[in-house]
Amino acid sequence: MRPTALPWIASTALVFSTLCSAANAVKTCTLSPLGHGRDDTDQVEEAIAKCGQSGHTVFEPGQYNITRKMTWNLVESTIDLHGYLNFVPDIQYWLNPNNTYRVVFIQDQASWFVVTGRSFEIDAHSTGGIMGNGQTWWSYYSANNITRLDGDGRPIALTLVNVTNGTVKNFRIEQQPFWCNAVAESQSVVYDGMLCNATNEDPRFVGQNIVPNTDGIDTYRSDDVTMINWDITCGDDCLAIKGNSTNVVARDITCRGGNGIAIGSLGQYVNLPDIVNNLTIENVQAIRLDSNVQPNMGTGIYFKTWTATVHGVPPTGGGGGGGHVSNVLARNFSLDRVSLPIHLYQTNDGQSGDAPSKLQFSNLAFEDFTGTSLSDEIVDIECSAAVPCPNISFRNINVVPPSGDAPEYVFKNVVNETGLPSS
Ligand SMILES: *[C@@H]1O[C@H](CO)[C@@H](O)[C@H](O)[C@H]1NC(C)=O
Ligand SMILES: *[C@@H]1O[C@H](CO)[C@@H](O)[C@H](O)[C@H]1NC(C)=O
Ligand SMILES: *[C@@H]1O[C@H](CO)[C@@H](O)[C@H](O)[C@H]1NC(C)=O
Ligand SMILES: *[C@@H]1O[C@H](CO)[C@@H](O)[C@H](O)[C@H]1NC(C)=O
Ligand SMILES: *[C@@H]1O[C@H](CO)[C@@H](O)[C@H](O)[C@H]1NC(C)=O
Ligand SMILES: *[C@@H]1O[C@H](CO)[C@@H](O)[C@H](O)[C@H]1NC(C)=O
Ligand SMILES: *[C@@H]1O[C@H](CO)[C@@H](O)[C@H](O)[C@H]1NC(C)=O
Ligand SMILES: *[C@@H]1O[C@H](CO)[C@@H](O)[C@H](O)[C@H]1NC(C)=O
Ligand SMILES: *[C@@H]1O[C@H](CO)[C@@H](O)[C@H](O)[C@H]1NC(C)=O
Ligand SMILES: *[C@@H]1O[C@H](CO)[C@@H](O)[C@H](O)[C@H]1NC(C)=O
Ligand SMILES: *[C@@H]1O[C@H](CO)[C@@H](O)[C@H](O)[C@H]1NC(C)=O
Repeated sequence: MRPTALPWIASTALVFSTLCSAANAVKTCTLSPLGHGRDDTDQVEEAIAKCGQSGHTVFEPGQYNITRKMTWNLVESTIDLHGYLNFVPDIQYWLNPNNTYRVVFIQDQASWFVVTGRSFEIDAHSTGGIMGNGQTWWSYYSANNITRLDGDGRPIALTLVNVTNGTVKNFRIEQQPFWCNAVAESQSVVYDGMLCNATNEDPRFVGQNIVPNTDGIDTYRSDDVTMINWDITCGDDCLAIKGNSTNVVARDITCRGGNGIAIGSLGQYVNLPDIVNNLTIENVQAIRLDSNVQPNMGTGIYFKTWTATVHGVPPTGGGGGGGHVSNVLARNFSLDRVSLPIHLYQTNDGQSGDAPSKLQFSNLAFEDFTGTSLSDEIVDIECSAAVPCPNISFRNINVVPPSGDAPEYVFKNVVNETGLPSS
């Protein structure tokens, strides 16, 4: 054998950095970033093709440049992602519909990275995840005054679709350009440890929310989804529980800036009823950031539906959808100067004279809310006249309005409210 490596070895780094040991019972692929500004997409795809089914893939620390859309189909598979998948910020490339997936039905949103399959675990060890390079995106839209619309092709950072029994752990998503996560058409998914951080650092936009639509997650058509230990900095919904999400647990959630936790919006599709049932959302902190960084801290939790009148078609228009939301427990919320702690409205994108929504809320329970509100209104539950809300209960709601004002609680079309006086 030759005593020294041949020069060409360095340029075929994939072969030598992806070590597949077939001798082991579980095949293992190990890869390291190519570095020097090179494109890692090929070696990442090759490792997942080799070891993504009945195998183990180890990404050594560092940044892996990803330059095109990518699907990981994982079956009985473990991924140790010690580094970051760096989605290069070539905005015009990603906005070409050919260059992303459209696997999330609601609002036709685009995805650049899709994980699908069953019985897998992705552990990013709190040292890896996705580098979204969102600053380039946010500044581009704001500097050029480009309107941002649902379905316009801005990509979701991490999309789980058609997953059964999947776990994502200790995952960091830096600067999501758009939604940080989506889970759709899936069952039994656990996210244990998730950080998303959409923080503007462009001095031209100090004090503005140039990070709209950077939701921590949107859940859709999924059952048995658990989110624990989340830390979300964003300019929109911290979590958004959308249509046909059932048996959802969200626990130990920090929302820094944005709108707070959303149930909705719902009822956007006239022919598709939204059924949302059995949500437990607990141990939530909503933290208002420096207003130079992020001006909004909207709610602790809010619920919203479109009206029963159809205005245009999704992704940007819609309305008219029915269904129901039932059995929601929101417990142990600590709020820091939120605009309106608990809010429910059924007039999203509505106009005066619209028919009232037919999507009904029932069995909502709110317990152990503390902290401060920027308005005297602590609770504003305005249900649809067409389907008043039965069984809305409150216990230990101790959110303090500004400067010693008396708290106000507003209820409209609520059939049976317990635990708070109505003002
Ligand atoms: C990889 O990322 C680096 C740093 O973001 C960048 O300079 C380089 O151009 C990228 N390479 C490719 C092939 O996109
Ligand atoms: C997308 O791909 C199709 C088929 O290759 C091509 O005809 C079309 O021009 C492409 N669209 C764009 C916007 O590049
Ligand atoms: C779920 O996935 C894990 C691997 O992450 C596996 O150990 C377990 O057996 C799977 N459970 C079922 C019911 O398939
Ligand atoms: C931004 O665009 C909107 C409509 O697209 C327009 O009304 C507005 O004047 C524009 N603002 C600036 C600063 O160009
Ligand atoms: C969903 O995944 C299962 C296997 O886990 C597969 O059989 C099925 O074809 C997938 N469905 C879609 C719509 O991709
Ligand atoms: C989010 O990013 C900003 C800007 O880099 C940083 O100042 C802040 O500490 C980060 N937040 C979290 C929770 O890591
Ligand atoms: C509610 O959802 C949780 C989490 O999936 C589940 O453990 C519980 O059994 C569900 N409750 C009912 C009544 O279905
Ligand atoms: C939700 O589920 C119901 C019944 O299972 C179905 O009729 C409806 O179309 C679904 N809605 C959506 C938005 O998928
Ligand atoms: C309430 O939530 C906080 C986090 O905001 C947590 O530290 C505390 O343990 C929770 N209390 C209970 C009783 O679970
Ligand atoms: C009221 O809602 C709670 C859940 O918030 C539920 O446990 C209870 O059974 C409901 N009561 C009635 C009478 O439906
Ligand atoms: C309202 O709820 C209380 C407590 O759950 C119950 O005792 C009462 O019967 C309910 N009233 C109506 C009209 O449903």
